[in-house]
Amino acid sequence: MNLPDLKEARKRTNKLVFEKKVDYQFPEAFRGKKYFLKTYGCQMNMHDSEEIRKNLELLGCKETSVLENSDVVVLNTCAIRENAHDKVFGYLGRCKHLKREKPELLIAIGGCMSQEENVVKEIKEKHPYVDIVFGTHNISMLPHYLIAQLKKKEQDIEVYSMEGDVYENIKYSRDSKISAWVNIMYGCDKFCTYCIVPYTRGKQRSRKLEKIVAEVEELKNNGYKEVTLLGQNVNAYGKDLEYGYDFKDLLESVAKTDIPRIRFVTSHPWDFTDEMICVISKYDNVMPYIHLPLQSGSDTILKKMGRRYTKEEYITLFKKIKEKIPECSITTDIIVGFPNETEEEFLETLEVVNTCQFDSAFTFIYSPREGTPASLIKDSISKEVKEERLQRLNRLINHYSLEKNKALEGKIVPVLILGNNEKDKSKIYGYTDTMKLININGSKELIGQIVPVKIQEAKSFSLDGIMVKESEMV
Ligand code: SAH
Ligand code: SF4
Ligand code: F3S
Repeated sequence: MNLPDLKEARKRTNKLVFEKKVDYQFPEAFRGKKYFLKTYGCQMNMHDSEEIRKNLELLGCKETSVLENSDVVVLNTCAIRENAHDKVFGYLGRCKHLKREKPELLIAIGGCMSQEENVVKEIKEKHPYVDIVFGTHNISMLPHYLIAQLKKKEQDIEVYSMEGDVYENIKYSRDSKISAWVNIMYGCDKFCTYCIVPYTRGKQRSRKLEKIVAEVEELKNNGYKEVTLLGQNVNAYGKDLEYGYDFKDLLESVAKTDIPRIRFVTSHPWDFTDEMICVISKYDNVMPYIHLPLQSGSDTILKKMGRRYTKEEYITLFKKIKEKIPECSITTDIIVGFPNETEEEFLETLEVVNTCQFDSAFTFIYSPREGTPASLIKDSISKEVKEERLQRLNRLINHYSLEKNKALEGKIVPVLILGNNEKDKSKIYGYTDTMKLININGSKELIGQIVPVKIQEAKSFSLDGIMVKESEMV
């Protein structure tokens, strides 16, 4: 048994092993069994789930989308806010019920919540029917933990608080055959005072440039049209290596593979350099879309958050990007109700929103995370005030989203078609180069192609369009 330890998780070491190999030598001990995999949280977790899926398939399992039909349940969890926790514990109730009817069912919990001391304590004490708890650093061990459960029946907790090594032969069973996620780095060293991620994901570890480029080449050769380079702070890529390259070099090398579309998330304003902006504007296959979290528009709050930039620095960067890449869409993340945030400080956030007029934003009420410095601050702002601020902020964000989308009406833009619209099967959907969701009338033969689409109607969260001839595209 290995329990998580948040103090240990805070420590940073240099004992990393790069290019470690995952051991895929295990029997198909679960041949004919069904697995149910549920993923919470960010793109990184979704990509981790593609690794979990591959492992389960190599064990001989087949996926089911119905919990009740499964023999193995894996929940890949997120710890970013309290409601993410609540959802998982709520879902565990259903799993517990099922296990009563099906005692041979195996339940495994992985992801960021598994890295938290309080969560694991709760699972140990109150949820003995959970068979396996595994962390973010040892996903590749899941098959071995599952096989071991076929013999022993006690709860197995295997969570390591030291960051994992960097594996280079990971196999994925990817969600899409068109658009793929590619990890360029793991972990985060920023330690924003409110955030649990540096504890749950460990030290920043960048993959080697040539390995990433080779993965993109392979995806391109397999017909993929788009890659999204993933990291908590992609702009800090390479800072932990001494190979003398950084994110602009990586982006340029990936652009030269000629894969049609390249995206990247998430960009931290602090590490964003002019050279990176140049590379984004220079290559047509680097999409004009940047997710640039602001978090707050108040210098006082930004300082307390440990974000390492001021409101002015954020706005200057924002304007620089827009000046060099005028068509670039920029989205953001904002937290309201950081401990003791005053009305004036909140109004400063609205002011920045008015200045930047984001294409869209993810907005959150601050959620204290045990083990983080901000969770120790005594907070005088009520829940009602925070909720009301969130509503005011969302109204403003939605106003600008609609305005930005309206400005696209009548324009012809390139769209990568990803699939059928779930609700209306006569429609297909895709994303514009600027990452706007668009629904169009069209046949499913177009799935996987980049086609010119004329935007007919704009809504706050999506667009409607029709396909036009290639020659109409400017
Ligand atoms: N690495 C990215 C963000 C990762 S988490 C970055 O730094 O930009 C995604 C978003 O969740 C954050 O941008 C932040 O807005 C939000 N978030 C993180 N911790 C939070 C907390 N304790 N309460 C509320 N929102 C939080
Ligand atoms: Fe969290 Fe900050 Fe790291 Fe983003 S940069 S993952 S908000 S600590
Ligand atoms: Fe959640 Fe972990 Fe991602 S906390 S947002 S799943 S890095």
